[in-house]
Amino acid sequence: MHSSLLWLVLPGLMLSEARSLPRYATRVSRCNTNQTSYDFVIAGGGIAGLTLADRLTEDASVIEAGEFDRGHADLDVPGAWSPFPYIWGLDTQPLRALDNRTELVVCGKMVGGGSNVNAMNWIRGAAADFDGWVELGNPGWGWDDLLPYFIKSENFTAPNPEFAKAANISWDSSIRGHEGPVQYTYSNYAYPAGSNWWDATLSTGIKPAPDPMSGKNMGIFWVPNVRDAATNIRCGARTAHYDRVYQTRPNYHILTGMTVDKILFEGSHAAGVQYLPSEGGEVVVVRATKEVIVTAGALHSPGVLQRSGVGPRNILQPLGIDVVVDLPGVGTNFHDQTTVQVNFNRPQCSAYTVPHNLSTVFTGVSLRDLGTDSDPWEAIVAEAKTRDVAALLPPGVGGDATVLAGYQAQRELLLRSYAATEQGAAIALLYFDTYSSTQAYFMKPLSRGRVAIAGTAPLAAPLVDYGTAADPTDLRVNAALLRKMREVMAQPAMRALGPVELAPYAAGDGAPIADAAGVERALRGNLVISNAHQCCSNPMLPRARGGVVDPAKKVYGVSGLRVADVSTFPMSVSGGPTPTVYGTSEKLADMIKRDWCLDGWCS
Ligand SMILES: Cc1cc2nc3c(=O)[nH]c(=O)nc-3n(C[C@H](O)[C@H](O)[C@H](O)COP(=O)(O)OP(=O)(O)OC[C@H]3O[C@@H](n4cnc5c(N)ncnc54)[C@H](O)[C@@H]3O)c2cc1C
Ligand SMILES: *[C@@H]1O[C@H](CO)[C@@H](O)[C@H](O)[C@H]1NC(C)=O
Ligand SMILES: *[C@@H]1O[C@H](CO)[C@@H](O)[C@H](O)[C@H]1NC(C)=O
Ligand SMILES: *[C@@H]1O[C@H](CO)[C@@H](O)[C@H](O)[C@H]1NC(C)=O
Ligand SMILES: *[C@@H]1O[C@H](CO)[C@@H](O)[C@H](O)[C@H]1NC(C)=O
Ligand SMILES: *[C@@H]1O[C@H](CO)[C@@H](O)[C@H](O)[C@H]1NC(C)=O
Repeated sequence: MHSSLLWLVLPGLMLSEARSLPRYATRVSRCNTNQTSYDFVIAGGGIAGLTLADRLTEDASVIEAGEFDRGHADLDVPGAWSPFPYIWGLDTQPLRALDNRTELVVCGKMVGGGSNVNAMNWIRGAAADFDGWVELGNPGWGWDDLLPYFIKSENFTAPNPEFAKAANISWDSSIRGHEGPVQYTYSNYAYPAGSNWWDATLSTGIKPAPDPMSGKNMGIFWVPNVRDAATNIRCGARTAHYDRVYQTRPNYHILTGMTVDKILFEGSHAAGVQYLPSEGGEVVVVRATKEVIVTAGALHSPGVLQRSGVGPRNILQPLGIDVVVDLPGVGTNFHDQTTVQVNFNRPQCSAYTVPHNLSTVFTGVSLRDLGTDSDPWEAIVAEAKTRDVAALLPPGVGGDATVLAGYQAQRELLLRSYAATEQGAAIALLYFDTYSSTQAYFMKPLSRGRVAIAGTAPLAAPLVDYGTAADPTDLRVNAALLRKMREVMAQPAMRALGPVELAPYAAGDGAPIADAAGVERALRGNLVISNAHQCCSNPMLPRARGGVVDPAKKVYGVSGLRVADVSTFPMSVSGGPTPTVYGTSEKLADMIKRDWCLDGWCS
């Protein structure tokens, strides 16, 4: 199944040239778009691409070109989850800090991108994340700036009030959206073991969080799922931003099964893109009269730029690529969110998440929650401050002064956020699946990797240096998370279920590994490096800080080109990326409309 996407927006002025194109086309072929011009050409039809295509065509004509999933129950039903036909699988390069392991990582490959295959957890970033983006040099992207767009993007359906009360589901209606296209709601069922987790967490001193979407997410809370409450069916970007509108948008065209090779420059102006069938074949050109917008996701957008001559000279030149702009940040600053998965044997309890009933109670924790007398959180922060920062970056990256300056600025913010109290952003989430495993998701790592092309072949996989735990402090935080998880499991409410810890963090005789060296060894071998929350590989940062795009998401040093997807986050957020990709895309759509006087923005 190939679904690399090219989104093509037909300009009003060019209608005669494109007269042969079908009206209200759901898909166009590369033959009837050959040599055609569009206002906007969008490379990649995931969350950001579809959100922008929808909003930018409210006032214009659009063409569509795409590959769609065929409504599998195992994609659409919460919990019945088998996304494998619709993903890209990529092998990482050896993980230097993790025994040189290589791992398979995934991202979405279909109309809708990750949103149509993901785990449906809907957790906004916290206020401190976005205020940090502003502090790093991005005016206009703070929490107050984004909140209206989070609200615009979504439609929240409240659960049955009696069930919500009994299950401790709480929310603040005033900061949730009620008219937007992305439908989300809560599970309709709570597994009994969920109460054990709730009570055990409370007894460690952690309190319930009134609404994790409010910008404050420290504490215990339910996480909603991105599905339609009436039908219990997934609501991905395809449903929310394509199916909802295409029949009324003669100017919205999508081309599927096509991979964008590179952007075509006239001088330093992006004039169009060159693409080819995802299984190989003839290269075709499409021109953009206004802008090219790249939204191929954090693993693929850097390669589109690099193949086009936009990227670090030390990658482009050896490959014989003409440098359009030497932009050292392209592909750097890459990171994901990791997981410590702790397994238990609980034969007497059979409740498990079955289709339709996701049990989704999470606990947002700060580093303060993780410290102990023998391993105080202040010592973890102090140790991180002693590092030779340039040496932590992937080979060939730390030598660039701009990227290094950006990394240092991020570290200062991160280490400050590690000291946050309950007013700040959680650095990790603890989760119990109500059956046999618990997970600790570390959302704010210090380590950074890099994505780089291996050559000029457009269909070749990128080289992905994950860089996981390159800063050993990340392992120390993960060790503290393992300790916290065991503390929760040791509370009377969880002990009542009789959990016995199993491998990989317990030895063969069932004894949990407790010594620091043993835990570190187990983490090197078993830390899960990816939640498919890859981000930040074309960061929105000042150019002097290794940035790739400015606060309007325009690529530095060229014209007519923006990058708009999860790769432009400066840092991962305290939550899942999905609501933030929707919200930031909604905001960018208004900025683009203002720039081009579309949709009444200048009248
Ligand atoms: C299995 C899985 C589970 C996840 N679970 C969650 C979760 O529970 N909660 C959460 O918040 N997030 C989750 N995520 C992450 C989330 O889905 C992504 O962060 C999000 O989709 C990123 O949006 P995007 O628009 O930046 O990129 P994507 O949605 O990844 O879209 C990029 C699109 O570009 C296409 N593309 C790539 N290269 C090219 C090219 N050269 N030419 C043309 N097209 C190209 C891809 O095929 C893809 O469709 C999950 C992701 C996966 C894969
Ligand atoms: C596109 O147009 C060019 C020039 O007319 C032609 O050579 C090429 O074969 C066309 N390709 C496709 C796929 O239609
Ligand atoms: C990982 O590989 C590098 C390069 O080959 C080597 O120098 C290093 O010793 C290896 N580390 C481990 C733990 O095997
Ligand atoms: C929002 O959800 C409600 C059900 O809670 C539904 O009645 C309404 O039509 C939805 N609105 C939009 C814009 O999808
Ligand atoms: C809800 O909270 C109460 C009071 O803290 C607790 O006893 C109960 O177990 C919780 N229920 C669930 C389903 O989490
Ligand atoms: C799970 O969800 C289904 C469908 O919404 C519902 O009918 C059922 O009662 C729920 N509970 C369990 C335990 O499956």
